[in-house]
Parts: sequence; structure tokens; C-alpha cells
Amino acid sequence: MPKCLKYSGGIANYEARTYPGMKRKIIVAGNWKMNVSYDEALRLTGAFGKEVSSSNNMEVVVCPPAPYIPSIVQQFEMGNQNISVGGQNCHHEQKGAYTGEVSASMLASSGAKYVIIGHSERRAQFNERNELLNKKIGTALEAGLHVIYCVGETLEERRADHTLQVIKTQVTEGIANLTSQDLEKVVIAYEPVWAIGTGETASPAQAQEVHAYIRALIATYTSAEVAAFLSILYGGSMKPANARELIAQQDVDGGLVGGASLDEHQFIAIVRSAQSFL
Ligand code: PGA
Repeated sequence: MPKCLKYSGGIANYEARTYPGMKRKIIVAGNWKMNVSYDEALRLTGAFGKEVSSSNNMEVVVCPPAPYIPSIVQQFEMGNQNISVGGQNCHHEQKGAYTGEVSASMLASSGAKYVIIGHSERRAQFNERNELLNKKIGTALEAGLHVIYCVGETLEERRADHTLQVIKTQVTEGIANLTSQDLEKVVIAYEPVWAIGTGETASPAQAQEVHAYIRALIATYTSAEVAAFLSILYGGSMKPANARELIAQQDVDGGLVGGASLDEHQFIAIVRSAQSFL
């Protein structure tokens, strides 16, 4: 496992998930990627809906492939199940001649509340750069969506001790020009690329170190209050066996779960671990 970094900063006020009387929201989001058939999608969401739901300070989110979104939203609504739905990507324009693309306003009008932007698979396989991701975030917010913005270093970057610099660039360029009000609708997911789908997880200390750094960065660029309210999720081989220890970290406010969100037992167990911190 890659070693811990040396960052020991952080911000004195962040002793707990609280800021003058208010709690930061814990979020567990499932990222299904390009997996599962339509029938399996409905079965899975049916199984989640019976067992888990969002509550005051905790939100459960499912991000299925875009074509399934309206049916899944309807299924949760009909069952009165308080689970939010999100897209996995959107185009940086709201509409136009972009064959095959999905816009933020299409996701929003299909019932999605969230959209994942900047996932490392999109950065690596579709060459998405911070500047483009910044446009996508703006377009998504304009469409009324909440954003889960993903950042994370590769193994080479970690080994070269570049992690914090990479995170700093991804965060600051990704959220450039956003207002404090915009940031209320943004969640950041720290997903070390070397931990995604590999079975290798960042240790709780490694995750905490980067999460604290992200929060400190946000405080520097906006305000301590905005930073204190920002939910920062960990992603990368989160499983029932490691979720509790990760979410127990002061600056880890939930998870973005890939593989384990395709198994109802594992996803439900992760949500339950998160609920234990409410
Ligand atoms: P994983 O994926 O949980 O399968 O590692 C996480 C993600 O890619 O969001």
C-alpha cells in the first residue's frame, strides 16, 4: 500500500462534523458505471428501497446508467422511498448537435438530483481535463443539479510525492469561479485512482490526510464555514469491511461506492455503517 503523505495541516475548527450547531451531511452514493441490465437495475433498487433511506443528516444516492434514471426515480417515488438518483456524467453544453451525449438539464428533467463529474475513468479514458470539468460543473449547477466532483491521484503521482499538488490543481481548477452558494450544492469525492476497482483501499489515515487537505483548501479559497459544510466522500474499493473505519475519520463524510453498490447486501451494509455515525 502506498505510504502516507506528510501533510499535517487541517483547520482547528474541524474537531467534529459540526459547525455552530449544524452537522455536515453524510452521503453514501452508489456508482453503477456501465453495469447491470434494466431488469437487474429495478431489482437492485427495489432491494435498496426496502432496507435503506435518506434521513435528516444522511443521504443515500444511486447513480445508474442514464437511460434507467426515470424508471428508478419513479420506483423510489411510488414506494415513497427517500433515495436520490444521480447521473454519472453530463455534457458541458445544455443542448445542441452532440450526438449520443446527455445534458445536465436532461438529467434534471428526468428526476436526477445529482451528477458525478470528473470521475477518473472519464479523466483517463475520455481525456476530460479540469477546465472542461469546471464548465460541466457550471452547467450542472445551472440545470439545478447537485454535483459530486471527483478528484484523485494515480499511483505514479503518489509514489512521486505529488498527491497534494495533484489534488490542489484538480480541486482549484475544477471549482474555479464557483460562489459559496454554488458550493453548497457540490460534494467532493476523493478517489485515489490506485484504489478504484483494485481491491486496494486507502488506509483511514491516508484518506483522512487528503480529506483534511481538501477541506483546508476549500477554506482558503472560500471560507471556513463553506469548508465546514462541504461533504467530502471517499471512493476506491469501499466495502462493508472497511467503510466504518473510513467514515469514522473526522473529514470523511461518506463514500462513493462502485463495485460494492452492485450487490444489495454490501451496499446496504455500507449505508448502515454510515448511519452509525449519525
Ligand atoms: P470501486 O469504484 O468502489 O469499485 O473501487 C469506486 C468508483 O469508481 O467510484
